[in-house]
Amino acid sequence: MTIGVCYFPEHWPREQWESDATNMAEAGIEYVRLAEFSWAVLEPERGHFEFDWLDEAIEVLGAQGLKVVLCTPTATPPKWLVDERPEIIQADIDGTPRHFGSRRFYCFNSPAYREETDRIVSRLAERYGDNPYVVGWQTDNEFGCHRTVRCYCEDCSAAFSDWLAEKYDTIETLNERWGTTFWSQRYPSFEAVDPPQPTPADHHPSLLLDYYRFANDSVVDYNRLHANLLREVNDEWFVAHNFMGDFETLDAHAVADDLDLVTWDSYPTGFVQDRREDDPTLDELRAGDPDQVSMNHDLYRGTNDAPFWVMEQQPGDVNWPPTCPQPGNGAMRLWAHHATAHGADAVLYFRWRRCRGGQEQYHAGLRKHDGSADRGYHDASQAAAELDGLDVAHVDAPVALLHDYHDWWAISSQPHAPDFDYWEHLRTYYRALRARGVQVDIIHPETSLEDYALVVAPTLHLMSEERADHLSDYVSDGGHLLLGARTGYKDSYNRLPDARQPGALSNLVGATVDQHESFPASVDLSLMYDGDAYDYRTWSEWLNPDEADVVAEHTTAGVTEAKPAIIRNEARSGTVTYVGVWPEAELANTIVGDALQTAGVTSTDVLPDGLRVAERDGHVWVTNFTSDAVTLDVPQGTPCHVGESKTERNDTVNVDPFGVAVVECRVDDVAVE
Ligand code: GAL
Repeated sequence: MTIGVCYFPEHWPREQWESDATNMAEAGIEYVRLAEFSWAVLEPERGHFEFDWLDEAIEVLGAQGLKVVLCTPTATPPKWLVDERPEIIQADIDGTPRHFGSRRFYCFNSPAYREETDRIVSRLAERYGDNPYVVGWQTDNEFGCHRTVRCYCEDCSAAFSDWLAEKYDTIETLNERWGTTFWSQRYPSFEAVDPPQPTPADHHPSLLLDYYRFANDSVVDYNRLHANLLREVNDEWFVAHNFMGDFETLDAHAVADDLDLVTWDSYPTGFVQDRREDDPTLDELRAGDPDQVSMNHDLYRGTNDAPFWVMEQQPGDVNWPPTCPQPGNGAMRLWAHHATAHGADAVLYFRWRRCRGGQEQYHAGLRKHDGSADRGYHDASQAAAELDGLDVAHVDAPVALLHDYHDWWAISSQPHAPDFDYWEHLRTYYRALRARGVQVDIIHPETSLEDYALVVAPTLHLMSEERADHLSDYVSDGGHLLLGARTGYKDSYNRLPDARQPGALSNLVGATVDQHESFPASVDLSLMYDGDAYDYRTWSEWLNPDEADVVAEHTTAGVTEAKPAIIRNEARSGTVTYVGVWPEAELANTIVGDALQTAGVTSTDVLPDGLRVAERDGHVWVTNFTSDAVTLDVPQGTPCHVGESKTERNDTVNVDPFGVAVVECRVDDVAVE
């Protein structure tokens, strides 16, 4: 486990590089990422390359024992290129060009930009092909950041027609699969299908879903171009990309197929403000929401079933969320430990030094802009010292949570309630699992399930026979499956299936959906589960059991009363539970607690918000995202590798506010006093 940093030598006088490298080495930093926005410096005019500065920067870092990760600089094409070839520019949904002036304004389908990409990536790769300090590459930077996966330019329009022709072969097939008789939407040819630009009412959901798939495939393809060029030059390099948190429009499972290493960029105090439904608490503004962050760790770990990296870790206060509080004391160290507990092998802080010019002057670095050490530097050094030499195996999670971006896009195309957010719904189940200290792999539904004691699938919205068979096989082999609302609602073209919902899964579930309804957040909704009253929210189904037993009934007054809301089927050798509502936290905790018990998964009692435990290779990380100190009981004599303090008998561990402890025991041995 190791620490790194993102560094921009091109922003600073040459005389400073040696002391930067020395300070990095002193902090215990091992990896330095370079050059992701450097195209204009590397090639100030067409064909005139200036690599000397980068050669020298790599040399200076390498001399201090630092390893370099280079980036393909394509997120920021230089001005001369945009002026020369303006057709590389993206278009917004209403056709407005996304002009030069920031970053990510290029179109993934632009033939001109692909040519330019090929040119710069090949030149760079050849230049550093046998450089001993360069260990791997990051492709581009955060594909899709600033809402750029979906472009609506003419190149995309033409590429979309080709993509459809490839998928459907004849236009009659497309018309039939989509159901374009509705509102007279039949298409005479593939060329006639335009990208979904503004129109008075909603667009056709099948068109939307295919456009989202097409846009995603365009990025996958563009990433592959980078990966192939790099591998041609040196197949010992790793090829990585840095994904984003809670990010809808790009299918990380698909991009990861072309990567050796999956990484993502973690900014906890920003995410809690701009990509979560409820308002953050003060503690969350200081340290973030541990479940929100680890859900991304577990997603990216799950894409390639391998340790991942945090390629950019928040170093202090940042510039882009609505408000920018200072993180709690120690939070930057806490985040590195938390990532490690969830399977990270490296955490790189973004950035080394706060910059003096440009859009991110209000963004901290590990060093202040005058070069002195900032709060993050001390935290990063401490984390590096504590994690140094800790050689832990890959996380072995007993539970899988199934997630498919295509389901997310289908739900977004028809949410049917303003509050039905696919990811937030998944997070309800994820939180309940993490509140009991259980490690969770977030994986694609078609991944092998045989090693999981419990599989949770909150919304497998688009259901095919093959997918249903895959789940059936899992249950036939004794697996325990927990399904959530809106599962099996559509076929893969985003149309209702022939049979009632959950469509191809009805036999396995032993029930069908009689009715569904949605509600505003302000309405109180309730049910009885196992003799106790609980609340749910936003979405409700009335189930019609056939083989299955009813385990919860609606108690919301009116037409819903006494209708089955949750059913359980002892199917084949395992069990299937279908939850026909979006449970509030307490109900989710109960349902998930019961499912864990049925599946025999080791877990804790429900932990308080902000306090989480996670086991990796025999080590348990206790991470405290709150401003209160916590004391934990552990078995007498438990070894404590990292911890604020412990009693002489080694049977309690004190964890500071925003602190961490690493102990050697089982998760269910840890109890909050
Ligand atoms: C990331 C991005 C970085 C930097 C950072 C600021 O999304 O990759 O280049 O902008 O945010 O927090």
